[in-house]
Amino acid sequence: MKIFIDTANVDEIRDAYSLGIVEGVTTNPSIIAREGKKFEDAIKEIAAIVGDETYIFGEVIALEADAMVKEAHEILKLHKNIIIKIPMCKEGIKAVSRLSKEGIKTCVTLCFSASQALLASNAGATYVAPFLGRVDDIGWDGMGLIHEIMEMFDMQGSTTQIVAASTRNPLHIIGLAKAGAHVATIPYKVIMQMIDHPLTKNGLDKFLKDWENVPKA
Ligand code: E4P
Repeated sequence: MKIFIDTANVDEIRDAYSLGIVEGVTTNPSIIAREGKKFEDAIKEIAAIVGDETYIFGEVIALEADAMVKEAHEILKLHKNIIIKIPMCKEGIKAVSRLSKEGIKTCVTLCFSASQALLASNAGATYVAPFLGRVDDIGWDGMGLIHEIMEMFDMQGSTTQIVAASTRNPLHIIGLAKAGAHVATIPYKVIMQMIDHPLTKNGLDKFLKDWENVPKA
């Protein structure tokens, strides 16, 4: 399962990217707004850190298909490997169908049901982004949704990939890997939580303390 980072914060991206395990950066309008920068500047700054080969997801704001397609073409100018995020709605599906025919990579975002994912796939979306954590937040079964979409895509031989979004903790990430999700987009804090374990820290502290007792030269 590929790991993307779900942030537009350049310090977080730089640090996570240095691990060598991050293959994409996802943003949404809320994530961009948090940084207090113009959208174009935020994407260009991210691009300068991650280079040409890393996917950067940029979301359209327009709500009508023609305007979404036009905006997508503007966003594409910002980086070599942009994935256009389009919100799940009637106009969004129209826009994805048109962009797919042009060979433009898209991600249908704000996906909360298998039926939405099926339409995104049939429209030719490269990715669909089910929001795991937000489904859990309303007391429904986020991981169940991921399993349902995976099973449906497998049965249908869909080429649309699941980029599981709204991930909140390391258990989400393990659940996604076991479900066979193609990608998890993960906040910086959760990537760091995946690295840390109290027994690892205690073990390393003890190793270093014991090392002081090893005769040197
Ligand atoms: C992905 O890009 C989504 O926009 C994001 O993961 C949403 O996460 P949240 O539910 O924590 O805001």
